[in-house]
Amino acid sequence: MTARLILGKEVSEEIYGELRVRIDALKSRGTVPGLAVVLVGDDPASQTYVRMKGRKCEELGMHSVTEIMPGSATEEELLEKIGELNRDERIHGLLVQLPLPGHIDENTVINAIDPRKDVDCFHPTNVGRMLIGDPGFLPATPAGVQQMLVRSGVETAGKHTVVVGRSNIVGKPMAAMMMQKGPGADSTVTVVHSRTRDLAAFTRQADILIVAMGRPGSITRDMVKEGAVVIDVGTNRVDDPSSAKGSRLTGDVDFDAVKEVASAITPVPGGVGPMTICMLMANAVKAAERAEAQVMT
Ligand code: GUN
Repeated sequence: MTARLILGKEVSEEIYGELRVRIDALKSRGTVPGLAVVLVGDDPASQTYVRMKGRKCEELGMHSVTEIMPGSATEEELLEKIGELNRDERIHGLLVQLPLPGHIDENTVINAIDPRKDVDCFHPTNVGRMLIGDPGFLPATPAGVQQMLVRSGVETAGKHTVVVGRSNIVGKPMAAMMMQKGPGADSTVTVVHSRTRDLAAFTRQADILIVAMGRPGSITRDMVKEGAVVIDVGTNRVDDPSSAKGSRLTGDVDFDAVKEVASAITPVPGGVGPMTICMLMANAVKAAERAEAQVMT
């Protein structure tokens, strides 16, 4: 068997089409959805992500603000900037790009973001709401994975979903979302991680295997059941002397071997990657719609 490819580019284009309609509707009523992104320091990968977010906002006709602060900025200065953006009515969504320099406490910063603008869904209020199944926002990468499953017709109800990885950004929320009631969920969920004994014994039981370990080659062919759906969230930059850049992106899954046993699989790049910014934009549009509804009531 050679697996069918699930491509984030295709799924995200479908969602962008729907978002454009909602953005036009908001604008026709006088609201331009606005997203602010704050970057502290000059990490090249973060700079790329922040640039991509700004560009996508502009492409969709949204209001975009990018605040770049030096790596020497203090926690107090960052909190002051967040306060300003919290109060700015033209900004509906606000995120601070992670990781932050070591002298700034991530949790303090996340807690300072108005939960109504927290389009990353990192604030404890929003994490709690997601967990009890009353979500305002859903975190972008897990939401993107869920949309890929739903829109490519993968049945999740009653299936065994194994999540590999336990980060706050992907693994933990992914597991919580897959066990909720509703479309793209209703799964029986197992979470495994770097300290799990005999990882393969668990991954081989997966009908749906979602991998967010952050390590290339974590999942080999012998770890995957025939016919499983494999979603690779890994984005690892590895040396590749044969490429012009000297490096290339690769996932956590041994793609070439696993595609021979899986029924469907996401490649890296081109799989989950494009979904994260797409779902972030969806959250920003949702934030604007909710802000508008609040003004009217
Ligand atoms: N750094 C890596 N992923 C993310 C993300 O989803 N949001 C933010 N703010 N920073 C990140």
